[in-house]
Amino acid sequence: MSYIVTGACVDCKYTSCVEVCPVEAFHETPDRLLINADDCVNCDACVPECPVEAIYAEENVPEEMHDWIEKNQDAENFPKLGEPKDALKGPKCVNPNAG
Ligand code: F3S
Repeated sequence: MSYIVTGACVDCKYTSCVEVCPVEAFHETPDRLLINADDCVNCDACVPECPVEAIYAEENVPEEMHDWIEKNQDAENFPKLGEPKDALKGPKCVNPNAG
């Protein structure tokens, strides 16, 4: 079991989740974050921090978002993000005014 970043993160990349993660489980792609299941300790700290509600415990990922479980398995192929940074808020961000 791990936690999963889903599509709402795409182009928003607020990184407030990174600030509270105790184990640096987040990896950064150009337009989203992913969680490395090998590092995630299932602490739940990141879920309430995400202003666009992009993060779910794996067993709570809604059916229509299940493809994101596999996408997060790719996390190791991208660099770790250990510190929060300015949000991306790109044109596809579901809510650029959320955080
Ligand atoms: Fe993405 Fe939400 Fe984190 S938008 S970067 S999962 S705080």
